Amino acid sequence: MGAIAIALLLILGGCAWDTPQTSLVPRSDLTRAIQGVYGIIAWVALVIGVLVLGLIAWILVRFRQQPGTPMPRQVRGHSTLEIAWTVAPAVVLLIIAVPTIQVIFRTQAPASPNALEIEVVGKQWWWEYRYPSLGVVTANELHVPAGRPVALKLVGWDVIHSFWVPQVAAKRDVIPGRLNHIVFTADTPGTYWGQCAEFCGTAHANMMLRVMVDAPENFDRWVKAQLAPPPEPSGLAAEGKALYAASACVGCHTIQGLSAGTLGPNLSHFGSRTTLAAGMLPIGPEALAAWLIDPQAVKPGAKMPKLGLSAEQARAVAAYLLTLK
Ligand code: CUA
Repeated sequence: MGAIAIALLLILGGCAWDTPQTSLVPRSDLTRAIQGVYGIIAWVALVIGVLVLGLIAWILVRFRQQPGTPMPRQVRGHSTLEIAWTVAPAVVLLIIAVPTIQVIFRTQAPASPNALEIEVVGKQWWWEYRYPSLGVVTANELHVPAGRPVALKLVGWDVIHSFWVPQVAAKRDVIPGRLNHIVFTADTPGTYWGQCAEFCGTAHANMMLRVMVDAPENFDRWVKAQLAPPPEPSGLAAEGKALYAASACVGCHTIQGLSAGTLGPNLSHFGSRTTLAAGMLPIGPEALAAWLIDPQAVKPGAKMPKLGLSAEQARAVAAYLLTLK
């Protein structure tokens, strides 16, 4: 009974429906190509597995020891069999090698001239995105247009990270002193989850990200909003702006027309994002105020220092940051 329960637990564990980081549901040309190779290998392995295990089961039953059976004929060396079990695996490997090598070259494909170039910078413990042709800089939530090739240039900053978005961008290391590329065309608008996939220090597990694949017109709208100057805040948000401008925030963060720090994420359009602390939490006034009061309590290891803000001050700064749509 216990064994059956454990077996069921393990098998049913694979039946989750809410799996935003699945690598089995590809949503770009690149991940579809990779999934294609997986498919071939999985089917080949399944056929071989069934064949071999079936044969073993049949042999165990058919040639089991029975009372009175004589010793079977003893065979030593069998050229035909030996040639067969050398050639057969070679053929199987060949069948797998052809599509695998094709896709390996595909993962290194150069970008087409109309591709949208985006620089991805991995930093402890968040992601910076720069769109040189659009003049946009943002963090943690990467917007890309559906149907247009995207060329990511992966740049290391401090230590080795790995940019991993299973459904659209697959995975590639982000290494200081080395330029890596990912070229893909996302095909289905939606929000896709990603995660740093190379241990990079205390907050590695919380170095998450989102990729928003937008319909082309929505992407254009997003770009326009990112380029627009932030609105002038009023009330509590105006107080927050004054606090922001007078505090250490300005040393690390950029807000168009107000501060030009580059150590932390660009906050010019912070309020247009959906998550906080590199994809950890949904963005909202309470979560943001808690973060401003004590970042390490929210995300252990976070490089943002405690600013000594009171609860009231944190609420004001949060209100201000949320106006930055
Ligand atoms: Cu960055 Cu792990």
